[in-house]
Amino acid sequence: MPKPRTMAKPGKILLEVEQLEVLFKTRDGVVRAVNKLDFSMVSGETLAIVGESGSGKSQTALAIMKLLAANGKARGSAKFYGRNLLEMTATEINEVRGEHIAMIFQDPTSSLNPYMTIEEQMLEILVRHRQMSRKDARLRALEMLTQVDIPDPERRIRQYPHEYSGGMQQRVLIAMGLLCQPELLIADEPTTALDVTVQDQIKRLMRELKEKSNTSILLITHDLGVVAGLADKVLVMYAGQLVECAPVDEIFYRPRHPYTAALLKAVPRLDHVGDYDMHPIPGNPPNLLNLPTGCPFRTRCAEAFDACHEMPVVREVTPGHSLRCHLDGGALK
Ligand SMILES: Nc1ncnc2c1ncn2[C@@H]1O[C@H](COP(=O)(O)OP(=O)(O)O)[C@@H](O)[C@H]1O
Ligand code: SF4
Ligand SMILES: [Mg+2]
Repeated sequence: MPKPRTMAKPGKILLEVEQLEVLFKTRDGVVRAVNKLDFSMVSGETLAIVGESGSGKSQTALAIMKLLAANGKARGSAKFYGRNLLEMTATEINEVRGEHIAMIFQDPTSSLNPYMTIEEQMLEILVRHRQMSRKDARLRALEMLTQVDIPDPERRIRQYPHEYSGGMQQRVLIAMGLLCQPELLIADEPTTALDVTVQDQIKRLMRELKEKSNTSILLITHDLGVVAGLADKVLVMYAGQLVECAPVDEIFYRPRHPYTAALLKAVPRLDHVGDYDMHPIPGNPPNLLNLPTGCPFRTRCAEAFDACHEMPVVREVTPGHSLRCHLDGGALK
């Protein structure tokens, strides 16, 4: 039987990340991929982490799951129901990964075993983590495939991953991630590798799952378009740091950080053929091996002034709205 959902009570702090740092040792020096990051999620909440490629989004998720590359090191803490994931032993974190936190990645093909049928892969999870009989596990797997809209699941479950389209593989991975009813689903660019119509299906599916199951979602994306309609809260990252974090409507309608405002202008407008309204952000993010002093967005910021040579601290401009910028904190559009 699926475990009862005793841990998740709406409004309870699910994940609390404090002063998270991710450092990579390289031949050229230390890469500071995540820099003193703080954020928290309450159960049932969907938090989107957005930012350009290289801003530290994936490394944040990988650090929390203790899946950093061998040359990487995490500092700070990431408490899941009060227990620091970063201090867990391999056995403890494996248990959390299988049962309480699930993760899906950008490329579904690399997450599925090409030599095993979908049935074998799904049953293995349930038999290992839930000690279910194969018969019960099969019923549960079929139920999950139905929930993610896989047509004819009785036939489809016996197939191999290559017999599925990319969008169907991603749906299967979501189903696999949710088999043990985790409290938290981390989805890292889940729609990036898929074409636009399939992206919409996955977004709709995640929205439905969120409504039906109260699963909290940490959604990582470089595309603000994916965030609308799915996230409750948005954290904007730049060069490994939090620059703004606020409820989704605040971010979309009252952004206060020049980088957030620039990101919003860079979103392709679906209602404009040819993306004429898109304004990519000029310039490049700073080198993480050698961060400039002061605000890291300074070299690209149209609003920069003298004070920006000093690093701004994160402050709460209105309840629940944090900002790292020397501007007065008023809305920028
Ligand atoms: N194993 C590694 N060694 C050195 N640098 C790394 C390693 N893995 C990631 N990085 C660097 O960390 C930074 C943040 O990466 P990432 O979190 O993957 O960005 P994104 O926001 O696109 O998900 C990037 O500059 C990347 O080059
Ligand atoms: S601190 Fe200064 S440079 Fe940085 S985003 Fe704000 S105005 Fe721009
Ligand atoms: Mg990434």
